[in-house]
Amino acid sequence: MNAPFAATALDALRADLAARPTELYIDGAFAAAASGETIEVIDPATGQVFAHAAAGGAEDIDRAVKAARRAFDGWAATPPSQRARLLLKLADLIEQHGEAIALTESLDNGMPFMMAKFAGVFGAADQLRYNAGWATKITGETMQISWPGEWQAMSLREPIGVVGAIVPWNFPFVMAVAKIAPALAAGCTVVLKPAEQTPLSAAKLGQLIAEAGFPAGVVNVVTGYGTTAGAALVEHPLVDKISFTGSTGVGKSIVRAATGNLKRVTLELGGKSPTLIFADADLDKAIPAAAMGIFGNAGQVCAAGSRLFVHQSIYERVIEGIAARAQSIKVGAGLAPGTEMGPLVSAKQLERVLGYIESGAGEGATVGVGGGRIEGDGYFIQPTILTGTASGMKVVEEEIFGPVLCAMRFGDDDLESIATSANATEYGLSSSIWTRDISTALKMAKKIKAGTVRINGGGGVDPAMPLGGYKQSGWGRENGRSGVEAYTELKSVTIGL
Ligand code: NAI
Ligand code: MG
Repeated sequence: MNAPFAATALDALRADLAARPTELYIDGAFAAAASGETIEVIDPATGQVFAHAAAGGAEDIDRAVKAARRAFDGWAATPPSQRARLLLKLADLIEQHGEAIALTESLDNGMPFMMAKFAGVFGAADQLRYNAGWATKITGETMQISWPGEWQAMSLREPIGVVGAIVPWNFPFVMAVAKIAPALAAGCTVVLKPAEQTPLSAAKLGQLIAEAGFPAGVVNVVTGYGTTAGAALVEHPLVDKISFTGSTGVGKSIVRAATGNLKRVTLELGGKSPTLIFADADLDKAIPAAAMGIFGNAGQVCAAGSRLFVHQSIYERVIEGIAARAQSIKVGAGLAPGTEMGPLVSAKQLERVLGYIESGAGEGATVGVGGGRIEGDGYFIQPTILTGTASGMKVVEEEIFGPVLCAMRFGDDDLESIATSANATEYGLSSSIWTRDISTALKMAKKIKAGTVRINGGGGVDPAMPLGGYKQSGWGRENGRSGVEAYTELKSVTIGL
């Protein structure tokens, strides 16, 4: 099979990354961390260090936040059409540099190159183009009020101010862009803090932001560790809002840290999303979708369908189908030809996922297929199905964030009790329903407590569709109108006539 990228491009990228650490992008200039420290960036397919990134700390964050603060008034006053033009220009630049970005993302995170290209590069360009449209369409309202006398009343939407964007390592590039794009459209300025495991595509994003011609300080990129750079950003008194995607534990610590100046906080956290397959479902579609819903990106997906509920009449057939897919998935390095599933992102994540599989077995679940590490230096794991799982088990309650499916069956129960099982989780991010009965589908869609319900397919994220969680899956929504409005303050203005 021909590689979908030029080998020379990969060689050039590797040489470039090996030659010098990536830098911070602060106030329109590139710089090393004030401490001079760097992060060792590991290729999860080999376990080897292949690059270094600046390890920004509190001092760098302070410089970046102050630059964003200084840039704010000018950016907020920039005509929205001009803000849109810059977002569109960045989208074009991202596509022009698409191969290098996808190669970087694949090396850094381990995901298959094609996923890095479609979900990462094209997904990011889509986010920018969609949100560029909002820049000129953010509006307030006019209201009828009942005070005595004559009044004109209206609401204005204003940009919130300086935004701290903290993103995780599972889809590093598109998530960074998905936070920056609506913030900039709304007129906010940004300090981006990527995950320490995957800092490289964000560093590249900083270069493209400079090339696109955004004014200095409008976007700043500070690579660094969560407990240092991330914590400093969350605590900084000049930051008006934090938009965070990551673990529920860190999300809660951000809420506490944000109380200092009562920052606005948007959180997109973990999930334990159910996939429900009813007896009348189109299994030719449901089986592969359920399989890739948990094995895609090695299960490191916040909306992964990690709890499977299947009607007992088709349970064996569905499990056999998913098991066959699990065993046929080509696991390998993201840049190896034909790879469908890459390694887990880090040694820590591998240990965590293997620990969960062991705990499931300890609690009485059966490892149907997979269950083990794939020997070698990389952080590869087999696609895994646990059967005989039940609520109360750790593997059913907690987010594993690996390619591990917990399979359960239901009988001819009423929809209410099926929904009760599906909702028996502290999370509520996503869900999938497979049935040909429109009434069953819609009744379930209403009963499920999750921010997203997918009926008969639809695995991706679209910038037009609100994304976020019920319960402990988060606060607020990203994407869509609500996503851009989350970067605004609403002001009521009344005029006595
Ligand atoms: P994490 O929540 O620690 O990391 C996410 C981001 O938060 C990174 O940029 C990190 O540097 C930053 N961060 C960490 N501590 C911080 C702090 N005190 N203040 C500010 N920022 C901080 O996630 P981690 O530890 O890498 O992964 C652990 C688990 O979290 C995973 O197994 C998975 O269950 C969940 N997770 C969920 C994600 C999602 O998309 N919802 C993404 C990543 C992880
Ligand atoms: Mg952590």
